[in-house]
Amino acid sequence: MNRILITGGAGFAGSTIARALRDRNPDSEIVQADNLGRRGSELTLPGLAAAGIRFLHGDVRNPHDFPQDFKADVLVECSAEPSVMAGYSSAPNYLLETNLSGAINCLEYCRKHQSQIIFLSTSRVYSTRALCSARIVETSTRFTFAEEQVLPGCSPEGISADFPTTGPRSLYGTTKLAAELLIEEYGHAYGIHTVINRCGVLAGPWQMAHPDQGIFTFWLWRHLQGKPLTYIGFDGTGRQTRDLLDARDLATLLDLQIKEPEVWNGWNGWNGNVGGGRQISLSLQETTALCRELTGNVVPIAADLNPRLMDIPIYLSDCAQLYARTS
Ligand SMILES: NC(=O)c1ccc[n+]([C@@H]2O[C@H](COP(=O)([O-])OP(=O)(O)OC[C@H]3O[C@@H](n4cnc5c(N)ncnc54)[C@H](O)[C@@H]3O)[C@@H](O)[C@H]2O)c1
Repeated sequence: MNRILITGGAGFAGSTIARALRDRNPDSEIVQADNLGRRGSELTLPGLAAAGIRFLHGDVRNPHDFPQDFKADVLVECSAEPSVMAGYSSAPNYLLETNLSGAINCLEYCRKHQSQIIFLSTSRVYSTRALCSARIVETSTRFTFAEEQVLPGCSPEGISADFPTTGPRSLYGTTKLAAELLIEEYGHAYGIHTVINRCGVLAGPWQMAHPDQGIFTFWLWRHLQGKPLTYIGFDGTGRQTRDLLDARDLATLLDLQIKEPEVWNGWNGWNGNVGGGRQISLSLQETTALCRELTGNVVPIAADLNPRLMDIPIYLSDCAQLYARTS
């Protein structure tokens, strides 16, 4: 694999993946395309340029913005409106057009050039209602999944790909699930190699985090700045729990998926969970303790008892399927 196109390549995941792939594959030609719509994305450009990664100012909503002179072996789709709250307080057009039409344009590029597609999907493809009805145990600092569950694909290890995806899952999650279905269909219809990674929360350097996306980095940033925070919903105690994954570890996985799309443990057609799992998870309350330890700062934390729209008490990625392929 010598030619790699990364859409949304100036964003947090895209730029991290671009730099990691460059380090691991010095002979490859990497182009990253981004409309720089996310504030702060422009800050990654000098570092990417210094690493020899070509930048194309382009918008995935416009098929003509895809590089005409560059036939990629693999397209890594990292562009998105990635907020779970997107489309609720304003019209959903940008979300739908970027996440769904953008994915279709990426697929059309891949069909035309017979490129492999690697898609960053999300744990939000799973039903919010089902996630809220999973049986949970409350400890003094966090929520955990109970041993006994009624729903398939749920256990103390977390949520597996067998978990229900039917029912509301946020507009964001729905665009991602719809894109997943199209990717699978394109793989079948046109023979392109497809890989879908359903990511839990990502974290790491260069994340321009906010509460709707990148909560752990946001929490640490507020501690560094000495600014107040709020535990929202779930009794205001900060016991909501998520797993987290360093985006550089995700890049390590992508390097494997790119190098041997068909043969190496059969990545072609893969659609599975990728995350830190139960072992690498934190509640907000635990995150606060960690941030205090790391920064030496104690910031005021208010409690807002009103639940946030589409919020869930706990998500942990059950990555047993992934570990079976990689260990
Ligand atoms: N960060 C997470 O915790 C997380 C978790 C699960 C899945 N994901 C997925 O990973 C991918 C990358 O997320 P991220 O955290 O890097 O987000 P990000 O916002 O940092 O990066 C997205 C990039 O896409 C660009 N972009 C937005 N609209 C565009 C458009 N119309 N055309 C071209 N570029 C456009 C933005 O400018 C930005 O640079 C997304 O698909 C997201 O859904 C992220």
